[in-house]
Amino acid sequence: MTLETQSDSVRARILFNADWRFSRERGASSGQPLDYVNLRPWIDTTGTELINEGVQKPKRPTSNPDIDEPFTKLDFDDSGWRLLNLPHDWAIEGPFAQELSGETGKLPWQGVGWYRKRFTVETELDDQCLFLDVDGAMSHSAIWLNGTLIGGWPYGYSSYRIDLTPHLRFGAENVLAIRLDNPENSSRWYPGAGIYRNIWLVRTSRVRIQHWGVFITTPRVTAREAIVNIDLTLENTTEADGELILCSSIFELDDKGRRAKKPVAVSEGCQLKLGGNTQTLRTQVLRIRKPRLWSLKNRQRYVAVTTLQSNGLHVDTVETPFGVRTIRFDAAHGFILNGEQVELKGVCLHHDQGALGTAIHRRALERQLELLQSMGCNSIRTSHNPPAPELLELCDTMGMLVMDEAFDCWRRGKKWPAGMDEKAPNIRYFDYATDFDNWHERDLRALIRRDRNHPSVILWSIGNEVIEQWYPDGWKLASRLAGIVREEDRTRPITSAFNGEVAAYSGFQTALDIMGFNYKPKAYAAFLEANPTMPALGSETASTLSTRGEYFFPVSEEKGTGQVNFQVSSYDLSTASWSNTPDAEFQGLDECPAAAGEYVWTGFDYLGEPTPYNSDTSNLLNFSDPEQRRLAEQELARLGQIRVPARSSYFGIIDLAGFPKDRFYIYQARWRPNLRMAHILPHWNWPERVGEVTPVHVYSSADEAELFLNGKSLGKRKRKRFQYRFRWDNVVYQPGVLKVVTTKDGKKWATATRRTTGPAHCLVLSPDRKTLAADGHDLSFITVTIADPSGDRVPRTNSIVDFSVTGPAEIVATDNGDPTSFESFQGSRRRAFNGLALVVLRTVAGSPGRIVLTAKSEGLSGASIGLQSK
Ligand code: GAL
Repeated sequence: MTLETQSDSVRARILFNADWRFSRERGASSGQPLDYVNLRPWIDTTGTELINEGVQKPKRPTSNPDIDEPFTKLDFDDSGWRLLNLPHDWAIEGPFAQELSGETGKLPWQGVGWYRKRFTVETELDDQCLFLDVDGAMSHSAIWLNGTLIGGWPYGYSSYRIDLTPHLRFGAENVLAIRLDNPENSSRWYPGAGIYRNIWLVRTSRVRIQHWGVFITTPRVTAREAIVNIDLTLENTTEADGELILCSSIFELDDKGRRAKKPVAVSEGCQLKLGGNTQTLRTQVLRIRKPRLWSLKNRQRYVAVTTLQSNGLHVDTVETPFGVRTIRFDAAHGFILNGEQVELKGVCLHHDQGALGTAIHRRALERQLELLQSMGCNSIRTSHNPPAPELLELCDTMGMLVMDEAFDCWRRGKKWPAGMDEKAPNIRYFDYATDFDNWHERDLRALIRRDRNHPSVILWSIGNEVIEQWYPDGWKLASRLAGIVREEDRTRPITSAFNGEVAAYSGFQTALDIMGFNYKPKAYAAFLEANPTMPALGSETASTLSTRGEYFFPVSEEKGTGQVNFQVSSYDLSTASWSNTPDAEFQGLDECPAAAGEYVWTGFDYLGEPTPYNSDTSNLLNFSDPEQRRLAEQELARLGQIRVPARSSYFGIIDLAGFPKDRFYIYQARWRPNLRMAHILPHWNWPERVGEVTPVHVYSSADEAELFLNGKSLGKRKRKRFQYRFRWDNVVYQPGVLKVVTTKDGKKWATATRRTTGPAHCLVLSPDRKTLAADGHDLSFITVTIADPSGDRVPRTNSIVDFSVTGPAEIVATDNGDPTSFESFQGSRRRAFNGLALVVLRTVAGSPGRIVLTAKSEGLSGASIGLQSK
């Protein structure tokens, strides 16, 4: 294996994803995770005593298991194991199993998986080190090199580094063995499983800039100049003293990430002595004249290139992209970017990529952001854990703001205090609480050091709905966590997301900079009155429930209603008991414009948490309509099922396949007020409803709308204060054409139509991109529409579609957005759901050429489409 240097320094970084062997032999979790405490990971902790002692926490027995495990050994014959490339999510391959919990996606993510990789390092690494950088592995990783346990990290969302140097063999084969262990009951959603993010080999000198040891801030920004502080942590891991010279230059980056030829600023060389086995912090201060600011529209970035010489030799170069921008929150105006108020139009995202599972695909993330931006979304909350580094790079380059969140729970896990909710015991018995004491500090520092140079990151969140909010001393732990954050970064405020209002008044709030309310649209104003200097926002809002293309009658506005087919009506009026319609959240924000905005739960449907059909028959109690409940009970008895089939969420504005639901347009109407748009719901294919009341709702950025059915006006509606949709609740269904004509400020604005379609006739293929990179990573997402003879989507068709592909590409996944489907995401066949299906193609590395995808379905005319891989 050869490591190309990036420049003339020693540092080199290569992707280490290819050719791993994988096995789930002995896949059951031993229940005995590693005793990491003795492994001394590289992030030091302060060792401050933990408060809130006395919390009774589930104790998992720890040991150093499997030390004698043959899989760790150099000479173990793994040739029978599966050969694959990372990133890899072993659980997404399924199969879905009815007996598994819907809460976590009914997929087999629990238990142990092993990865092994052989590699050689030809030359002796004189004065050099070799590290393994893991962007994320789910979870409780333990790593052996040539049979010796060298490290690991429990939290599956953290990025970490392991030093390979002491146990490397030179000129001979080395074997890395990585054991992952996902305990049962450790997650509230589908966490994925495996080495699901990228993994890197990094070579450095022994005298170097520390990992994540560059922190760039811009304490003063004016039109004339920006002061750029570059904090550099240097380490000398040799025995000898070093005479060091440090120098930094700043270059503009273009939108492709290419560096300009000439620097815009160059530091003086800084000379220092660094003793053997010590480290130090140095700050270089540079000035950029007439800085070009990073903003949502102009995503200008710079890169700081820092070089280090030691005893006359060039030993290190580190490149750190950053942006120059100012951010501020204030209690009267919310969020202010470069002096201008920006409403946070955000969504919460889980980390899975639907049918692709949790395995990181840059293009899949980019597509998600593109779809969200077309809706007017400008911010992401990485709920409830550290994101993939690629997400932040994309947010930097695409102009999205990020609330970067660390944890879903602290010491107490998700266990409600006694008396508050006896019906909800802690079913996530082995959640992060079991690792919290030993790991929260390392996890938090790792997150912030890794992410603090991204201009897109504007907020740190230290927790989501932590149970400590309900305890009088909970603020102490909040203060400790906030203290850790402030030690690492004082330029961004700290928030936490609360589902109770108690934390807003108990003093708990004083540990934070910004108050985050989950599902409390009426709480902002009172909070700001009581805490006049502390900004507030909706850290989690709505949790409206719907299935794309499903509509149930009579239209109900009751909370928690369900249907016997385990779908939820798409009138966007269904919510969980604790949650709200988009309209109610908009009203809360309009009543209190000082609140900084909202993060809707969620941008996309995700695997797991299929509220209101969570995991077992007790959820029948969710059916508030006794008739529905009786039918559901009957249906379950007929199917002989104890558990409901639902396996992914209904919360998304966009479904799991990436198809916008109706809700997409209520957000687009609000978030892009200047976009001429109108959207009618429901579809208009109701042969069984002729003569029956079938309400029609319209989402539009207009202020007035008139609805016509077959040319006859059904009346005008004028938008009133706190109204966010136009409603015609008494429309009597007749087949034909619905048309809405809208105006804004008295002028023509936008129109939309919905027609009763003809029968399903043909397939139509629409790729998101036709030209792809022949790099083995690029993806094309191709939408399959079941259309009638005039090309309109036929809304209630579920035909089975078979795919075949020729040329240099493979089918990596198919989907249809149905939260109850147990069809495999792999393979080349997929039933359409309400007129749509999705197929995802991936190019082959180094094989350019023409790709042809063909789709066939019995009784329909098939379709083919050509793509180009370059
Ligand atoms: C919130 C929680 C989220 C998700 C959501 C569903 O209370 O923070 O993780 O569970 O409810 O409505």
